[in-house]
Amino acid sequence: MPRSQIKRLKQWDKEYIWHPFTQMKDWVKDEPLIIDSAEGVYLKDIDGNVYMDGVSSLWVNVHGHRHPHIDAALKKQIDKLSHSTLLGLSNTPSIELAKHLVKIAPKGLKKVFYSDNGSTAVEIAIKMAYQYWQNTGLKKKTHLVHLSNSYHGDTLGSVSVGGIDLFHKVYNKLIFKTISLKSQGWKAVEELERLFKSRGNSIAALVVEPLVQGAAGMLVWPDGALKKMRDLTRKYNVFLIVDEVATGFGRTGKMFACEHEGVSPDFLCLAKGITGGYLPLAATLTTQKIFDGFIFDHKEQKTFFHGHTYTGNPLSCAAALANLEVFQKERTLAKLGPKIKFLAKSLKMFYNLPSVAEVRQRGFMVGIELKGRLEDRVGAKVCQRLRKYGVILRPLGNVIVLMPPLSISIEELDFLLMATYRAIEDED
Ligand SMILES: Cc1ncc(COP(=O)(O)O)c(C=O)c1O
Repeated sequence: MPRSQIKRLKQWDKEYIWHPFTQMKDWVKDEPLIIDSAEGVYLKDIDGNVYMDGVSSLWVNVHGHRHPHIDAALKKQIDKLSHSTLLGLSNTPSIELAKHLVKIAPKGLKKVFYSDNGSTAVEIAIKMAYQYWQNTGLKKKTHLVHLSNSYHGDTLGSVSVGGIDLFHKVYNKLIFKTISLKSQGWKAVEELERLFKSRGNSIAALVVEPLVQGAAGMLVWPDGALKKMRDLTRKYNVFLIVDEVATGFGRTGKMFACEHEGVSPDFLCLAKGITGGYLPLAATLTTQKIFDGFIFDHKEQKTFFHGHTYTGNPLSCAAALANLEVFQKERTLAKLGPKIKFLAKSLKMFYNLPSVAEVRQRGFMVGIELKGRLEDRVGAKVCQRLRKYGVILRPLGNVIVLMPPLSISIEELDFLLMATYRAIEDED
């Protein structure tokens, strides 16, 4: 790319783009890193520098960038149909994908409702859960329960079930009232039981991130907690909404985190890795029972009145189908086991570093928590330094997040870990 064009792009970025989750006062002081192309686990910027994509382009990439099978599926689909609505019509890839998702999802999930991102996948589950009880007569069941430190997205419904003050507090007066559990781990499960016992008949649903609370800094739940929460929701007639936006599609070592504990929820929310990291798409899966709670004569007005313009977009669905085919063809999950073990073994060395407070891992989700005050932004500084070592990471406060594509090789993983180690060591 000519130097003049590179210069213009950097200038236009600062002039025209408002970046998400970004203090723009700081952003404009630095040169933006502008990605131009990618291959496998590597990203290339417009200056020609190559970086390892250590966070899978925000937790979405699965089989690497420009995977030939997904590329080909998209090119084939684009020659047929790029978009047609699911409102009043259907399209081939969305039907095939729904069938495939039901086949691989935990038993009992039978219906697929599409949207475009993780936040809407959760909003849809919340609205369906709420409306189910309204439609079927238990009208007092209106409350939603969520965990402390939860994160389910940035639209207002998802913010309502969010528990991260830094992101959510400012909207307190704008969002709807929910019940937030105060404790973590097994204490939260006990708290939940007490709550259900006293108020279960007014609660519509419990919303959880299974096994790992990602955005809170990769907080790992004790084994068995999800299963226990599922048992409690069944006992007290409360729906369980499992948000697998971050954990789904192999991140925890199985296709879905729920599988580790044999849990089948009432709602399963999927996004991020669903298209292998190619295009926006989300799906909310639910049961026949919940679906049937919306089957009435039209005049009763109990339809689920919700839908997004690009719902079931054929290109996104074609990418998602190809993504699932690659899982099978390349035995992605079988190959992941040894990499997870290598990761676990290598992560131990981080405890040698004085600035490391805690290392948390579940499968291919890792958080390395650094000591220090949040306002000193040590996480951001380490990630900035990592660019010099050829790695892109994005921290969560003081937590360095490692979430590489599942296709990463052991050698590449080793490079990622060594670079991260060095960048943290520079801090000490
Ligand atoms: C568990 C979870 N739910 C929901 C979301 C929101 O997804 P999106 O950013 O696609 O709206 C995220 C995003 O990180 C997430 O981690």
